[in-house]
Amino acid sequence: MNNFGYFCVLVCALSVIEAFYLPGLAPVNFCKKEDESGSCKSNVLLYVNRLNTEESVIPYEYKYFDFCTSDDDGQGPVENLGQVVFGERIRPSNYKIEFMKNETCKVLCKKSYTNKHEDNQKLSILRKAIGLNYKHHWIVDNMPVTNCYMTDDNRQYCTTGFPMGCYFRSGRSFCNTNQVNSEGSYIYNHVDLIITYHSGAEEEWGSNFKENGGRIISVKVMTRTINHQGNVDCSRHTPLQIPDSLDGNIFDITYTYSVTFMQNNTIKWSSRWDYILESMPNTNIQWFSILNSLVIVLFLSGMVAMILLRTLHKDIARYNQIDSGEDAQEEFGWKLVHGDVFRPPRKGMLLSVMLGSGVQVLCMTLVTLAFACLGFLSPANRGALMTCAMVLYVLLGTPAGYVSARIYKSFGGEKWKSNVLLTSMLSPGIVFGLFFVMNLVLWSKGSSAAVPFTTLIALLALWFLVSVPLTFVGAYFGFRKRALEHPVRTNQIPRLIPEQSIYTQPIPGIVMGGVLPFGCIFIQLFFILNSIWSSQMYYMFGFLFLVFIILVITCAETTVLLCYFHLCAEDYHWWWRSYLTSGFTAVYLFFYCCHYFYSKLQIEGAASVFLYFGYTLIMVFLFNLLTGTIGFFACFWFIRKIYSVVKVD
Ligand SMILES: *[C@@H]1O[C@H](CO)[C@@H](O)[C@H](O)[C@H]1NC(C)=O
Ligand SMILES: *[C@@H]1O[C@H](CO)[C@@H](O)[C@H](O)[C@H]1NC(C)=O
Repeated sequence: MNNFGYFCVLVCALSVIEAFYLPGLAPVNFCKKEDESGSCKSNVLLYVNRLNTEESVIPYEYKYFDFCTSDDDGQGPVENLGQVVFGERIRPSNYKIEFMKNETCKVLCKKSYTNKHEDNQKLSILRKAIGLNYKHHWIVDNMPVTNCYMTDDNRQYCTTGFPMGCYFRSGRSFCNTNQVNSEGSYIYNHVDLIITYHSGAEEEWGSNFKENGGRIISVKVMTRTINHQGNVDCSRHTPLQIPDSLDGNIFDITYTYSVTFMQNNTIKWSSRWDYILESMPNTNIQWFSILNSLVIVLFLSGMVAMILLRTLHKDIARYNQIDSGEDAQEEFGWKLVHGDVFRPPRKGMLLSVMLGSGVQVLCMTLVTLAFACLGFLSPANRGALMTCAMVLYVLLGTPAGYVSARIYKSFGGEKWKSNVLLTSMLSPGIVFGLFFVMNLVLWSKGSSAAVPFTTLIALLALWFLVSVPLTFVGAYFGFRKRALEHPVRTNQIPRLIPEQSIYTQPIPGIVMGGVLPFGCIFIQLFFILNSIWSSQMYYMFGFLFLVFIILVITCAETTVLLCYFHLCAEDYHWWWRSYLTSGFTAVYLFFYCCHYFYSKLQIEGAASVFLYFGYTLIMVFLFNLLTGTIGFFACFWFIRKIYSVVKVD
């Protein structure tokens, strides 16, 4: 590896970023009146998704709240596995919107509450959710409905969700109207939908469309709280407070909406996502993050290059000279341990199983990121990213079985059945077990993220009927191959390891090992955590791919470097240590997630905290497999290389 290589990688990655653009799905043409051919639609369907908040990890389905639900409790669009597993529930709504037909103050439905226990309960659910800032997520024409406002520096900022209500608490109002002046919760029961469309081009769709047809560019929503008091009047400004208790009164919530269609032909359909993505973290920070990582990589590469080219070269030259020369000098340095470096480690079974699973995660990440870079997994393609990752994980059982079997065989292991079983069961088992426990918690809370029973069965079937057999196939080929030949023979009697200085002791080495890889990724990590927990959209996969490559390089280089130092100190226990050195990055990841939890999120409630750390543990575990495996194979390759060039009698 030289710096020219990195330069090439960088250039390739940059061209990926340049070429990267969100390809939307096929455009839908709308028109005032549908014609027989069905080339356009006049109904604009509005779908409602689950509600979530940054203050709790538990999302709820739309119908969990006492909103107006659609009469046909039927099907929303078909959801993919990734959406179901991660709690998205897209349902039809009963907003009736017709293309190019403005509506003012239409009643959606009216909900009345009397002093019954269950009515009080429904109101208390609304109050609680408003207090926790739960947000609606609506979808029109496969675009999120956005809520835009002006920031102080006069820039428009659009978020993809909008609050279901607001509150006035300890003298401060969090509402978008200044009419609110007493403590309590207020519900946004009126929405103004502003639908912008691009009117049809004559040559494209025919003359009929010039006046009457178009494609939807954006849907923005503005919320209001209106106390309609008997007759529906949307010009009223009195806010609608949800009473703390009904005390025998009747309380009504009338949900209303207005729709305005605006024409704007300056925005192209193909760039309709831009205004949402522009509101996301800007690219400057991303460049800074890349620059930061590159500095680390260059620094490390310099070190590694220096060691490989100078020290190692000198070492090898000297060793080989000693062998040919007459005066048998004392041997020194890493050559001394040639009879021990390939001595199989303790717990070789576990190590080989983890390496197999690590390869599985590594391949999955790589292929998913490649797909994402090519634009297949854009935000317009909801849930595609997670679906892709899960399917790939299942399909990549074969390399896992193969690698695990080969490594295990090279350790001289005999229990191949246990090896295959563990490879196919251990890490999926841990992930699935955690997931299952969290699912129980979500289920007990009535959350939408609780995976339905059928989906659980489907996941189990994917695991046992697809992943396990594929792992067996891989393991079969792995065991059939001859065991890996090591360049030097292993002595009968293990060498004594001399007393180590503080720097070459195992624990400090491992702890130091994770610092640099983590330093490369932590800025990117912030955006990723934001996209997971704060429902910000993540779309800069070009950057992510680049950072991933940098992570792989740093993990490999740090491990090789530390491995070399340890061998020079005549400590030959490198198998587990190389895994743990780079795998320790995952521990830093865990600390970072804790830090994020305390500094960025305001999560309350034992269940939410439990869920947050449950998901974090899954992430940390998979990340440990990923980084550990990278470090191990880098070190493995390095050691095989250096011992194959020295002459050993
Ligand atoms: C809808 O209202 C907007 C804003 O008042 C107006 O510009 C537009 O022409 C109206 N559209 C129709 C079809 O009436
Ligand atoms: C169309 O949208 C662009 C960009 O948001 C804006 O600058 C322009 O004023 C809009 N045109 C009309 C007619 O609203």
